[in-house]
Amino acid sequence: MGVEIKVQDLTKSFGRSLIWKDVSLTVPAGEICVMLGPSGTGKSVLLKTLIGLLKPDYGSVVIEGTDIASCSEKDLYEIRKLFGVLFQDGAMFGSMNLYDNVAFPLREHTRKTESDIRAVVMEKMELVGLVGAEDKLPGEISGGMRKRAGLARALVLDPEIVLFDEPDSGLDPVRTSFLNQLIVDLNAQIDATMLIVTHDVNTARTVPDNIGLLYHKHLAMFGPREMLLSSEEPVVRQFLNAQMIGPIGMSEEKDADELESEKGQELPPLPPIPMQLDPSNGIHRRSQREPGLWCRENGVTPPPGSFDENMSMAPGAF
Ligand SMILES: Nc1ncnc2c1ncn2[C@@H]1O[C@H](COP(=O)(O)OP(=O)(O)OP(=O)(O)O)[C@@H](O)[C@H]1O
Ligand SMILES: [Mg+2]
Repeated sequence: MGVEIKVQDLTKSFGRSLIWKDVSLTVPAGEICVMLGPSGTGKSVLLKTLIGLLKPDYGSVVIEGTDIASCSEKDLYEIRKLFGVLFQDGAMFGSMNLYDNVAFPLREHTRKTESDIRAVVMEKMELVGLVGAEDKLPGEISGGMRKRAGLARALVLDPEIVLFDEPDSGLDPVRTSFLNQLIVDLNAQIDATMLIVTHDVNTARTVPDNIGLLYHKHLAMFGPREMLLSSEEPVVRQFLNAQMIGPIGMSEEKDADELESEKGQELPPLPPIPMQLDPSNGIHRRSQREPGLWCRENGVTPPPGSFDENMSMAPGAF
């Protein structure tokens, strides 16, 4: 059913360079979360800290009662089995064909026979649409195929938690849509807790149950999708609507002169909140909330046109 990740007061620096501080959030069991943030704000560092590849300076990451920031190597090894990770660069072994790459975690972490391994590998290859490409080397296939192979490998141990680091970077818009559908379908099927780092605003607006935004060395906001999509908070609003007007500049923060020159410029109204992407079989995911529920429960009027099926399907609706 997926497990919760509870992050409390997490702080990470490299040498004297602070990456982020006091990051607290709960990634709820079985839900899909998206983490956004300008390049270099430490999203990949956060994912690596969540699986214990990097140690935080302070704070805790509690999964099933174990704090992976302070637990023993042995406990960490056990907890890691709960995770499937799709790294930013795919992290395929270049000299191994796709079959062996996908089979790797099974050979490493289980005592399955080769014929059992074959059944699992082929099931996952089929899931991501790569049957027939098993003998290819990672260098011989397109970036999109590498991403899908990485996803197949992330899934072979039937993870309770799947972390995706920019699964859609370098993909064309059509393949990004297919990948998003695959993620939603997977969540419906395996109920794993999912955390996706992406720069794709459309993905952020339509796929997750919750959205977080890392900015300026802290977690600017984290909460239900509707909360962020109806937020007037300048950084959240600028980022989720891919606008130039706002506090975020080309090199992180704008200076006082730049902000002064924007005074009087009208921000466009918030666009409608689109419907959340449904699983392709039309049956709602267990963690999916009714459209508009968060807004209603919190007395927030969503932007006009929100949750209109036709509106959210229109190209460039965001
Ligand atoms: N192992 C490391 N040692 C030292 N500094 C590191 C290390 N890993 C990351 N950093 C630094 O941490 C900062 C955040 O890096 P990170 O890769 O997490 O950014 P990001 O938000 O994922 O960016 P992008 O959107 O471009 O992928 C960068 O300044 C980077 O140079
Ligand atoms: Mg990154």
